[in-house]
Amino acid sequence: MIQTIKWEDNSIHIIDQRRLPKKKEWLVCCSLREVIAAIREMAIRGAPAIGLAAAMGLALGSQSIKTERYGTFRRRFLEMAQQMKSARPTAANLKWAVERMITVVERMHSNPVEEIKEAIRKESHIIVERDIVINLKIGRNGLELIPDRATILTHCNAGALATCGYGTALGMIRAAREAGKDIHVIVDETRPLLQGMRLTAFELMEDNIPVTVIVDSAAGYLMKRQMIDLIIIGADRIASNGDVANKIGSYQLAVMAKENKIPFYVASPLSTFDLDLKDGDLIPIEEREPGEVISLAGHLLGPKGVKAFNPAFDITPAKYLSAIVTERGVLRSPYKRSIRNLFKAEDDRR
Ligand code: MRU
Repeated sequence: MIQTIKWEDNSIHIIDQRRLPKKKEWLVCCSLREVIAAIREMAIRGAPAIGLAAAMGLALGSQSIKTERYGTFRRRFLEMAQQMKSARPTAANLKWAVERMITVVERMHSNPVEEIKEAIRKESHIIVERDIVINLKIGRNGLELIPDRATILTHCNAGALATCGYGTALGMIRAAREAGKDIHVIVDETRPLLQGMRLTAFELMEDNIPVTVIVDSAAGYLMKRQMIDLIIIGADRIASNGDVANKIGSYQLAVMAKENKIPFYVASPLSTFDLDLKDGDLIPIEEREPGEVISLAGHLLGPKGVKAFNPAFDITPAKYLSAIVTERGVLRSPYKRSIRNLFKAEDDRR
């Protein structure tokens, strides 16, 4: 399975997702600034992968802080953390990973700076290793929701490329396949950047999982004709009431799914939940360059100078979800309560 990100020769190597599936090219980042640019320009994308890149980017950045004094180190590190947090605003995993790294720095206030740097680097490795385990668990937990001989619709890419391996929504699909279920995946192309067609279709083909690409606007037609048995998407941020931010177009899929009585599932690690937010209206939605809408693969197709609006995500209200599948089990409505109970159980375990 394709690897998204790795350390090599004291630099971070990222598989450049802008070039896939045509070219498998590693982008080498030698500084914090280069990692932030890779996230912003979407060489690496997908909420968990952004979090992993942020953690590794901070580990790399911390190496360049030349001081032995804790106070100076901490101040410079917090500045870096702030820059990293602003790389992309919607994915909760970015904030989650940055805060985890800050916790390491704060906890080690009486250690020598070199030891803190080493601990930060180790923490980034831990996050990467755990991510794969988490995705395998999501896959296992979601197994009961996927019947044999199912046709599954997915949107954007919530696969190995959006994580450190296996994927969340695609993790459920992979697990079903590994359990011997006969499944077929329909994938929305996912305009404007075509993550569905370029990345999800590519990943599924590499795994020999049957896949068919449709244009985004065909989804309702297929649902109405009962050509879809269930829908699984990933998430960029989930508010404490269960409202979900995910790739633009997710909301309309959820509404159409309800209209056509098709189960609509979200697969997500706990690191994507933002319990500070009461509901989805408070989730910041990234607006990207209008040029991405009027161009395709770098070619301007719209009339030069035409206005375009490019929100990258939307919010699906919790009432449209059939379940949220996490590494700690399957959450059902009422989500406010099931999410609260899950995190309380998590706290009790610690
Ligand atoms: O803009 P992107 O490509 O970063 O958006 C990605 C998505 O919307 C994914 O569905 C989400 O991050 C979940 S990835 C496991």
